Amino acid sequence: MKIRKAIFPVGGLGTRFLPATKALPKEMLPVVDKPLIQYAVEEAAAAGVEEFIFVTGRNKSAIEDHFDHSTELESALLVKGKDSALQTVQAMMKPPGSVSYVRQQEPAGLGHAVWCARNLIGSEPVAVLLADDLILGEPALKEMCEAWNGGNMVATMNVEAERTSSYGIVTPGEINGNLIEVTGLVEKPNPEDAPSTIAIVGRYIIQPSVFTTLSTQSKGAGGEIQLTDALSSEIGKTPFFGYQFSGTRFDCGSKLGFLQANLAYAFQRDDLKEPLQKWLRELI
Ligand code: UTP
Repeated sequence: MKIRKAIFPVGGLGTRFLPATKALPKEMLPVVDKPLIQYAVEEAAAAGVEEFIFVTGRNKSAIEDHFDHSTELESALLVKGKDSALQTVQAMMKPPGSVSYVRQQEPAGLGHAVWCARNLIGSEPVAVLLADDLILGEPALKEMCEAWNGGNMVATMNVEAERTSSYGIVTPGEINGNLIEVTGLVEKPNPEDAPSTIAIVGRYIIQPSVFTTLSTQSKGAGGEIQLTDALSSEIGKTPFFGYQFSGTRFDCGSKLGFLQANLAYAFQRDDLKEPLQKWLRELI
C-alpha cells in the first residue's frame, strides 16, 4: 500500500530558539536559503506523498504564505527580469497535490498535534514528518516507504550512549538489515537505564489505529501528549519497526544542530563550498 498522506506538525512554540521564534515559526528558519519546512515537504514528495497536511498554531501563518502564490513578488521579479529567482519561487509555490491546514489550538504536544489531523486521514496509514529533524542525503521517508510492509514504523539512528536522555529509545527485537523490530520504547532514559542506543528521529509511518489511541492518551513527558506513548501502547497489537535511514540527521530545533546543518548544506553547494572553506581556514 502506498503512503499518500503526510502530516507536518508545526504547532510547537520553538522555545529553544527564542527570540527568533517569537514571531517567526521555527519551521521557517532557513538552512542556507530554504526554510526547514520546505525540505520536509520535498522529502515527502520524493517519497510519493500526494496530500500534505499541516497542523499549525498561533503565529504560523508564514508557513501558509510560503506555500502559496505571491502575485506581487512574481510580478516584480518578472518586471526586473530576475528569471532564475522567479523560477525558484514558482517551482516551490505549493507542494504537488493537495494541501490542507488544521489548527492545533494549544501546543499540547506532538501526539496532540498529530491527533488534530484525524478527520483528514480516514482509514489509511499516514506519514508524519518533523521539519526540525533535517536529514541530509537519501530522503529518509522514501527509504522507509520502500521498506515498509504494514504496521507502524519510525526512523531510527544510533546515538552516543551518554545522549540517550535526549531521545525516545527503542528496545530492539529481531534486526534484519536496516529494519529493527521494536519491542519497547522508553522516552528519554538515562544512559544506565537505556535499553539500547537506537534513537527515534522525526519520521513516522503510523496506522489509523494510532489516532484512536491518541484520543484517550494521557499526558506524558513535559506534561504533553506524546506520540511515542501512543506508539508504545500499540506494541503487541500492531507490528512495529524502526528503520535505520542512511542520511545524516541534524536537530535543527537546537542551536548547535541548526548551525551544523547550515554548514553541512552549504558545503553541498558549488557556489558556497570554496568561499566557505577559505573563510573557515582563516578563522581557525
Ligand atoms: P519540539 O519537541 O521540538 O517542540 O517539537 P517545540 O515547541 O517545537 O520546540 P521547543 O522544544 O520549545 O524549542 C517537535 C515538532 O512537533 C511540533 C513542533 O512544531 C515540531 O515540528 N509540535 C510540538 C507541534 O506541532 N505541537 C506541539 O504541541 C508540540
